[in-house]
Amino acid sequence: MAKAKLTFADIGVSVTVPAGTRIIEVSEKVGAGIVYGCRESDCGTCLTVVVDGMDNLSEPSNFELATLAEKKAGPNMRLACQTLVLGDVTVKPGA
Ligand code: FES
Repeated sequence: MAKAKLTFADIGVSVTVPAGTRIIEVSEKVGAGIVYGCRESDCGTCLTVVVDGMDNLSEPSNFELATLAEKKAGPNMRLACQTLVLGDVTVKPGA
């Protein structure tokens, strides 16, 4: 299975994960500052800034796009509970 390097800029930690892993699954384990609530693309608590590697993420669903718009998220932001890592990416908390 393809691997990807997921880096959390706020704590300076990089983890190699299988491609297709959700950001939130890893951020919790390593103690990064990304917080979460619903895990269902609804609350927007898990807003995350993509510092590098935006092209290496899964496409946002319509539900995610609606929440991003509601939260007035910038073009470099995603929801950690929805976004799959497909290649090397660096993120930091957006909330
Ligand atoms: S945890 Fe609620 S939108 Fe991600």
